[in-house]
Amino acid sequence: MRLVIGNWKMHGTRADAVALAAQVAAGLEAVPAWDPDEVRVGVAPPFPFLEAVGAALAGTRVELVAQDCHQEPQGAFTGWVSAPMLASVHVRRVLVGHSERRQHAREDDALVRAKLEAVLEAGLDPVVCVGELLAERDAGRHEAVVERQVRAALEGLDPAAFARVVVAYEPVWAIGTGRTATPEQAGAMHRSIEAVLAAIAPEAARIPVLYGGSVKPSNAAELARTPGVAGALVGGASLEAASFVEIVRGVAEASAADPRSA
Ligand code: 13P
Repeated sequence: MRLVIGNWKMHGTRADAVALAAQVAAGLEAVPAWDPDEVRVGVAPPFPFLEAVGAALAGTRVELVAQDCHQEPQGAFTGWVSAPMLASVHVRRVLVGHSERRQHAREDDALVRAKLEAVLEAGLDPVVCVGELLAERDAGRHEAVVERQVRAALEGLDPAAFARVVVAYEPVWAIGTGRTATPEQAGAMHRSIEAVLAAIAPEAARIPVLYGGSVKPSNAAELARTPGVAGALVGGASLEAASFVEIVRGVAEASAADPRSA
């Protein structure tokens, strides 16, 4: 399976979100190379707009994705949103462990694991985000850091859950910086993650691994052709329908040229 998700982060108004969702859905209809069974597409609006965006996407093949959730199903947690709440507004997948949450909300590996389990428990599919800081890459520790994050998120899970999990590799130095990992850097990390997944469990070896970090129309197809890259998690370029649709087109064309049975 390939997957492209637009992470809208904390941008826009309700009207912007509804318009963007409608434009994305309409734009994708006009992409002949896009087979929605082969390349799934999702958008992750801010929480207050989930329901309106879900309504705008009704009858389309674009999935509703949430950016985060709390690890508990309910309780006295002012300001948070639980996974069952997201399920009740027809969210399909939830990002957990995004680097902006790891950095700004100080989420650690244990909390990311708890959130991942909460997402599964609510019947939703988690997208677990991993990635190293620039200092960690410069110190040559990038593969070890990402291995630690992947193992903490997934080791010991019920193997049946692995069919529902997606991993997104987002090097923190490439997020919002315009500085994309080269296909060689992405390819090397994706190979390393694949080896870690295979060591965790045979079922985990089939988990799709997305790339994120300054994905744009100009680099999406090349990244998607990189062995081991199963799609993209897109930030800034997903805020404009035309550029997001172009990214999906690039991934769809790469997929058509190299269909992967997974
Ligand atoms: P940019 O595409 O803006 O670099 O953001 C990537 C990201 O964080 C997606 O989750």
